[in-house]
Amino acid sequence: MEVSIANNHNLKYKDADYWNERFAEEDSYEWLATYDDIKPIVKEALNKVGPKAKILQIGCGNSQLALDLYDDGFQDITNIDISEVVVKKMTAKHPHIKFVQMDATKLDFGKEKFDFVIEKATLDAFLVDSASPWDLTSKGSQKVLQVLENVKKVLKSSSVGSQGSRMEYQGGQVHQHRGCLGLLHLQVRGRGRGPCSGSMVRWWT
Ligand SMILES: C[S@@+](CC[C@H](N)C(=O)[O-])C[C@H]1O[C@@H](n2cnc3c(N)ncnc32)[C@H](O)[C@@H]1O
Repeated sequence: MEVSIANNHNLKYKDADYWNERFAEEDSYEWLATYDDIKPIVKEALNKVGPKAKILQIGCGNSQLALDLYDDGFQDITNIDISEVVVKKMTAKHPHIKFVQMDATKLDFGKEKFDFVIEKATLDAFLVDSASPWDLTSKGSQKVLQVLENVKKVLKSSSVGSQGSRMEYQGGQVHQHRGCLGLLHLQVRGRGRGPCSGSMVRWWT
């Protein structure tokens, strides 16, 4: 079924300018879920590596997630966002946590640096102009693919290991990025929990 994207008020979510303008005004907003909501599956993964786990969060915005992870004992966390406005604001407010302005499609960390990669509602923002997540030729899907290629590169090989990488969701749209992941030979395991409009958490271990 063809889904119309005309008049979609979410189309602005794919533009960095939109985020810079929004973050100039907004100090805190939590998309889709809080840390408490996703804690069980996040900690199940993190506990396999322990408190020294090197974590990368993609598209952190002004969410509390990095702060909550830090307070929960996972303090080696690097947060990136395309918006220099939010990175400056978050750094000023939380100087003990690392926030870096960077495009998720061009991660600049070198190879095999992180044990765990997490994003919440960031890939969804790329797909706002895609009629369907199965249309891998759409600009949004191509961007998601680029991000996932980058993520594969920055993950430690021990994390990407022979058992295969894993992408896990909490929320409704378990299949949302299955097409892109299939192309990259990443496995998808879903844990749908109620009527959520997007994927919330994913990690590769
Ligand atoms: C829907 S918000 C989610 C924010 C936060 N993760 C949360 O859950 O509250 C999407 C975030 O992705 C960021 N973003 C958009 N494009 C990006 C890109 N190419 N690289 C890194 N971050 C990006 C935006 O600036 C924004 O902070």
